Amino acid sequence: MDVIDDKEAFRRACDGVRLRGERLGVVPTMGALHAGHLRLVAGAAERADRVAVTLFVNPTQFGPNEDFARYPRTLAQDLERCAAAGVSLVFTPSVEQMYPPGERTRVRVDSLTEHLCGRSRPVHFEGVTTIVTKLLSLTGPCVAVFGRKDYQQLKVVQRLCADLLLPAEIVGLATVREPDGLALSSRNAYLSASDRARALAIPRALSAALVHAGTDGVTAGEIKRGVEQTLSQAGLRIDYATVADPDLLQPLAHDVPLPPRALVAVAAYLGDTRLIDNVVTSEDPPPIPS
Ligand code: PAF
Repeated sequence: MDVIDDKEAFRRACDGVRLRGERLGVVPTMGALHAGHLRLVAGAAERADRVAVTLFVNPTQFGPNEDFARYPRTLAQDLERCAAAGVSLVFTPSVEQMYPPGERTRVRVDSLTEHLCGRSRPVHFEGVTTIVTKLLSLTGPCVAVFGRKDYQQLKVVQRLCADLLLPAEIVGLATVREPDGLALSSRNAYLSASDRARALAIPRALSAALVHAGTDGVTAGEIKRGVEQTLSQAGLRIDYATVADPDLLQPLAHDVPLPPRALVAVAAYLGDTRLIDNVVTSEDPPPIPS
């Protein structure tokens, strides 16, 4: 496994994979790798001959009062996990490599970033789309794998690549969950034992929404209220609970009957820790199997 911190060396290594006639799979991450990331690596390996993982805590996708400084950084362990997972290339750039002095460019995707996380984290997606553009410009043609836990990010990155003609096939893989239903997230590491227990209200609310979605004539507003009730009864501070079109990411009017495919997405705080999760009706299994 080659660990590379220089961007031009990483570009050459990615070019080298293709020059040997091999397909490159890419898993962009911010490190603190857990089983969810390793599932993305496995998904990339199923679709490509060589896998590259990028480990970079991207400052531009964090707002001024967010957790950039305390975001978990576990490089030694991440490298061990990548090696054990059969990764060929790991890219670990510095902030100066990705944002050299004098840089002035940001990439923005409209409309899809207007609601959900885009509403409460105004700079977030611009940071994500800027860094993903830079990373994919270094990797060149590849299949890039993202998790559906960050469903809005997945849709935004798909749009970005289509609109900017980036030569990456973007694949979204199912959310990986703990046996009790909590979605794996690097931020779960922040939770105290009691907050970890309370966080189960999130998969509980989404599982109930999937059941509720099967009721004839149920409206988007009723699904939203059910989710909000479960979260607030468990003492979570709701950032949003939104029922939206799963492709356009625009919230559905409250009084419309729920269409067969709808995105039910939540963001909620336990103390200072903000967790997100989602399901798409008719696509995803219940987070807590019945
Ligand atoms: O999902 C993440 O870990 C990040 O948002 C990404 C895509 C690596 C960009 O920094």
